[in-house]
Amino acid sequence: MSKTALVTGASKGIGLETVRRLATSDLNITTIVLMARASQDYDDNFAELQKDIPEGVTLVRETVDVGDRDVLIEAIHRVYAQVGRIHYLINNAGYTNPVAIHQVEFDDFERTMAVNVYAPFTLVQELLHLGNKFKVIVNIASTAGINGRAGWLTYSASKAAVINMSEVMRDELKIYGTRVVCLSPGRTATALRRVLAPEEDPTTIMQPQHVAKVIETMLGSTGQYIDQQNVIVRQ
Ligand SMILES: NC(=O)c1ccc[n+]([C@@H]2O[C@H](COP(=O)([O-])OP(=O)(O)OC[C@H]3O[C@@H](n4cnc5c(N)ncnc54)[C@H](OP(=O)(O)O)[C@@H]3O)[C@@H](O)[C@H]2O)c1
Repeated sequence: MSKTALVTGASKGIGLETVRRLATSDLNITTIVLMARASQDYDDNFAELQKDIPEGVTLVRETVDVGDRDVLIEAIHRVYAQVGRIHYLINNAGYTNPVAIHQVEFDDFERTMAVNVYAPFTLVQELLHLGNKFKVIVNIASTAGINGRAGWLTYSASKAAVINMSEVMRDELKIYGTRVVCLSPGRTATALRRVLAPEEDPTTIMQPQHVAKVIETMLGSTGQYIDQQNVIVRQ
């Protein structure tokens, strides 16, 4: 039976590479929903992606700010009406604005929580309300959610919440046969990493393709034999 995947933060970085991998995986995924905000990157990368996608795989492009709960809920309903059951949900969209404690603006802390924590929660809850039966949910946390670091308060706190929230989801949703994987990448060469570590040479660290390959493995049959609690992916 053909399957459908939804990947948030699919305009670039880990999310984009995950879509590319899922389209050519042996998971029989024939529909992939992409979510990100409108941007030139999204336009360009989506056009490029379309050229690489094998025949028989449909990409559904949603332009949505997942940090805006009302807009996200509307998008979820629209997508569900269009594609039906979402078998694989990859909660990958992430936001960070690393500043010292003295400079943290509360609005920005709320924005970080909205994108990194409330959006994955809303996707899961809203789809459950619609009657969706997930096969696998992957929540992308971060090693920053395990160990805090100076200047990363809002980001680290949000990712710690993702790790913990995933445990609760795993426990509650297993009665539906849903596997919930929490995956924590270490430093990966993407736009978000450039915000966190502008001085770093991106060629010396893990690439988004490496993380995407691990996500693909976790979705597949081998993935069920790997501890789902907090899969750490790093160099
Ligand atoms: N790179 C690392 O070192 C690293 C390490 C650990 C964990 N992670 C996590 O990995 C995930 C992917 O990040 P990445 O490293 O691949 O960074 P990235 O290349 O900057 O991609 C982030 C993605 O999230 C999307 N996004 C951000 N805010 C959004 C919003 N409000 N609404 C919808 N989409 C939004 C971005 O799209 P738009 O901005 O175009 O909307 C983009 O597609 C994140 O959860 C991040 O925290 C990354």
